[in-house]
Amino acid sequence: MDRHLKTSSEKTALIWEPNNPNEEPKHISYKELHRNVCRFSNVLKSLGVKKGDRVCLYMPMIPELTVAVLSCARIGAIHSVVFAGFSAQALQDRINDSECKLIITADGSFRGEKVLNLKSIVDEAIQYCGSIEHCIMVERTKAEVNLVPDRDLLWCELMNESNDYCDATEMESEETLFILYTSGSTGKPKGVVHSIAGYMVGAEYSFRNVFQYQEGDVYWCTADIGWITGHSYVIYGPLLSGATTVMFEGVPSHPDYGRFWEIVDKHKVNIFYTAPTAIRALEAQGLDFVTPYKLDSLKVLGTVGEPINEEAWQWYHTHIGKEKCPIVDTWWQTETGGMMIAPLAGITKLKPTYATLPLPGVQPCLVDDKGNEIQGLNVEGNLCIKYPWPSMIRTTYGDHNRCKEVYFSAYPGKYFTGDGCKRDADGFYRITGRVDDVINVSGHRIGTAEVEDAINQHQEVVESAVVGFPHSIKGQGIYAFVILSKIEFNPNEICSQINELVKKHIGPIARPEKIQFVSGLPKTRSGKIIRRILRKIASGEINNFGDTSTLLDPEVVDLIVDSRNLTISK
Ligand code: PRX
Repeated sequence: MDRHLKTSSEKTALIWEPNNPNEEPKHISYKELHRNVCRFSNVLKSLGVKKGDRVCLYMPMIPELTVAVLSCARIGAIHSVVFAGFSAQALQDRINDSECKLIITADGSFRGEKVLNLKSIVDEAIQYCGSIEHCIMVERTKAEVNLVPDRDLLWCELMNESNDYCDATEMESEETLFILYTSGSTGKPKGVVHSIAGYMVGAEYSFRNVFQYQEGDVYWCTADIGWITGHSYVIYGPLLSGATTVMFEGVPSHPDYGRFWEIVDKHKVNIFYTAPTAIRALEAQGLDFVTPYKLDSLKVLGTVGEPINEEAWQWYHTHIGKEKCPIVDTWWQTETGGMMIAPLAGITKLKPTYATLPLPGVQPCLVDDKGNEIQGLNVEGNLCIKYPWPSMIRTTYGDHNRCKEVYFSAYPGKYFTGDGCKRDADGFYRITGRVDDVINVSGHRIGTAEVEDAINQHQEVVESAVVGFPHSIKGQGIYAFVILSKIEFNPNEICSQINELVKKHIGPIARPEKIQFVSGLPKTRSGKIIRRILRKIASGEINNFGDTSTLLDPEVVDLIVDSRNLTISK
């Protein structure tokens, strides 16, 4: 930001579009943003936040969130943003794992018709967080809140008392910029650590090149800052490039399903970046929500987070891009920090459903289950990266061995992504989805183990196994197979109790779409659940289970298939 002050201080850095279309959007210049960041940096310092301290952000999509992120960066504090849809329990786990000193939140958040009371969730979480010294609260919804004297402080009061000048703290390139928690195959979510220089190089380089950003373009990424896409492509990538970035507080369905397109026209958005799940959800509502809008400012479209199906790609291309906007299907991960395999808009040949080619400098490879690299074209395997890149994960917070184990031990000398991938006759890459026990629901990573742990909290649940199944809008839905201690329970009642438990331990996004009560689970003789079979049953493929010779009790499979009519849907 200091750099841009010299050349573009009056330029709009951030356009903030509120949830309610009748509320005025805000246009914040680089100068103004810089000033607010300096002021808030001084607030952080006055509360004793120092270089290396962890600060948790649990906030709605409001400009103060961007200011808080950049202020942490300015003084060398490490931000840990937690998506404001996670439960108090999930928030507490993340705060405790990295021992955050301070939490920044809001009284509440507006999401379509809903108002969420964030402060009460924070209150519930931090009663068990010994490291938290203060909570700073932005007033957004004006909901009634409980303010604890000395601990809880108001954003506006602190900002009014602060001043405009704050030097940026000098940092080593390899010091930590932020932690972001993400789910994996096993255990609790891990804190992915990104470094100052490498991460920012990756974010800016990929932003400029993939979108072919031109000075003056208005850019909008619809992701929430609680996820990596929001970090890299709402905040860091565009602001490092001196672009104008749009930040949207609401949801695509409010006040109706035309909201995205209304915003594109209103702010004359040139580059638009969203998730396939949003495209499918909007496509399902029909063209009546699209045709009232011109969409003639659009030049480049992007997708991220999950594989895009051909139908959604074509709809996006025809009805939103009017067949003139290249679509960049960008593959990357929380751990990669920035885009890794993606077309360069207008340069790389497009191929629907393909993320196409690696960014210059990125070296992907496909390996078989034995770890041998698969050469040639028209092949499929596990996607690895065989050479480091600037914005790669540095460690998992507090547990460096876990980082080595999860990412670098499956295939020695290579980073393993957890994704399956095809390479076609042109050498283009197409991501086929996760090959581990991670489910991708609406572009959000959910670990099966986490959901199972939550379900198993129910006192009548003996065991559970969670898998993903194809879902027409969300990409994947969550399907839980559950064994109860007795069969005479009311299944609907148990289902809603299970849903409540998942909501309490993780958040509403992790609630199972379908729950099937079963008498047993397919296991090997050593007791390992064979999820491959459960995935097939959940997808309705009940004819060919492949090799079942390792099953301890093959009859279990027939029993599960026969009891599919007892599945309860959300
Ligand atoms: O399975 C891949 C899928 O999302 C995973 C990464 O999730 P997360 O760390 O939450 O980051 C999401 C935003 C970058 C990947 O392992 N994924 C991401 N982008 C694509 C994708 N799958 C297919 N095509 C993509 N473009």
